[in-house]
Amino acid sequence: MDKLKITGGRRLSGHIPIGGAKNAALPLITASLLTDQPLSLENVPRLADIRTLCRLLSGHGVEIGDTDANANGAKPRGVRSMTLHAAHIRDTTAPYDLVRKMRASVLVLGPLLARCGEALVSLPGGCAIGTRPVDLHIAGLRKMGAEIDLQGGYIEARAPRGLIGAEILFPMVSVGATENLMMAATLARGETVLTNAAREPEVTDLARCLVAMGADISGIGTDTMRIVGRDRLHGARHIIVPDRIEAGTYAMAAAMTDGDVELLGMRLDLIQSVAASLRAAGVEMTETSGGLRVRRTGDLLEGVDVMTEPFPGFPTDLQAQIMALMTTARGAAMITETIFENRFMHVPELARMGANITVHHSSALVRGVGALTGAPVMATDLRASVSLVLAGLVGKGTTTLNRIYHLDRGYERLEEKLATCGADIERVKGEE
Ligand code: EPZ
Repeated sequence: MDKLKITGGRRLSGHIPIGGAKNAALPLITASLLTDQPLSLENVPRLADIRTLCRLLSGHGVEIGDTDANANGAKPRGVRSMTLHAAHIRDTTAPYDLVRKMRASVLVLGPLLARCGEALVSLPGGCAIGTRPVDLHIAGLRKMGAEIDLQGGYIEARAPRGLIGAEILFPMVSVGATENLMMAATLARGETVLTNAAREPEVTDLARCLVAMGADISGIGTDTMRIVGRDRLHGARHIIVPDRIEAGTYAMAAAMTDGDVELLGMRLDLIQSVAASLRAAGVEMTETSGGLRVRRTGDLLEGVDVMTEPFPGFPTDLQAQIMALMTTARGAAMITETIFENRFMHVPELARMGANITVHHSSALVRGVGALTGAPVMATDLRASVSLVLAGLVGKGTTTLNRIYHLDRGYERLEEKLATCGADIERVKGEE
């Protein structure tokens, strides 16, 4: 397996292009199932998760045209566009071997049920950061008239007479459940009201694309969305929103190394809560004509307390990264994870590099240390992995990161983007 080898001590300086958001691209790809017309997506990130989901959709019968497809093996560059055409859906099963690899595959459930009246979707199962149930997805679809049985690890869903609009109150904010039910509601009979809906920019981006496809959705960007079902949707062309998690990750890399980096294509409105925490820590994010410029305002970083919350709060997907940033800040930082039950797996690995972190239940107290030391470390999940890359950028000596397939799921050309800004980082081909 490939490894990353990082030698710390370099300041990052230069420009990093921010790609389309992984967590917007995934539901947008499943939205293609809602119409027999072609859906064109621009700014699609080149990530393993996207490839896995496209394999799943091809199995359903979706024809996928991709600018990379004719890159004949060369390392494709530039904006990637993809056209997805679900003219005929030949199979409504999402098999375990694909769903277990990429749990966002469960987002085909709502569209298949709405378009075909049936779906057989493997339960995604848990992952490293938590049990990740889909009970809210299922409860909402049942309220819309679907008959759903859980058999042999699969969700067997049927709606032979179509779905019916319903009033759905989410007991907790769920990005995936909001997206699945919003997509299902676009073809249901009557009006669906989603209350306590997720407001993440990726949910808003999906809603805007659905409206471009002819869906009737109001309250976009708020916690209450009304969707009036239509008989059918049509094709559209949609440019995917920039990836605020990728941008936040590189912002913290710049801050850690006392660098000066411009995040090309990024918008401040997508990352306000992160900008506020970074400002308190002594890091300035300013809008430029090309995106966002990130640099420190003083010599040292200050420890700041952070609590993860649904948007517009501090994103859980940047919790591991800001923890890495806080390991060498002045003072202490209390970091509380409120979304997932097991999202501190980066802590023991950071500790191996000399970080001083004490975990109590869902809070981690980070006491700043003078410096980290490079070490061999293990990646466990996507965002924990990248927090170790950040630590390696400042760790004295060399850090070797194993199992970097986790990184390839969510970061396109990570080592290239960092090396371009001066980092001493290389991918070492491992024995298979
Ligand atoms: C999305 O996951 C993201 N993934 C996650 O990003 C992100 O961390 C998460 O939202 C929170 O922002 C994609 O968009 C593909 P949830 P999702 O439903 O939809 C519980 C990354 O690193 N819950 O908002 O699965 C759940 O267990 C990934 O890019 C239920 O209890 O997250 C969690 O505690 C990681 N029942 C909380 O809600 C349900 O039916 C929030 O989960 C659904 C969720």
